[in-house]
Amino acid sequence: MYICLCNAINDKTIRNVVRQQHVRSIRELKSFVPVGSDCGKCVRQAREIINEEISLLPPMINVA
Ligand code: FES
Repeated sequence: MYICLCNAINDKTIRNVVRQQHVRSIRELKSFVPVGSDCGKCVRQAREIINEEISLLPPMINVA
C-alpha cells in the first residue's frame, strides 16, 4: 500500500528501512527515503508505521 503518493513510497519500503537502518523517527526516515518532502500528507501515517514496526522488534538487551 502506498503511503507517500508524491514519491511512490509504500509501507513495505518504510518497514524495511526501519528494520535495516534502525530508523526511530520521521527525521531519520527522511534521510533514507524522501517521505513527506512534497505535500506532507503522508507524515502521520509514516510515523504510525515506524511506531508499529518498532513495537514488533525484539526488545533490546542491555550489555554492560
Ligand atoms: S504524500 Fe508524501 S509528500 Fe505528498
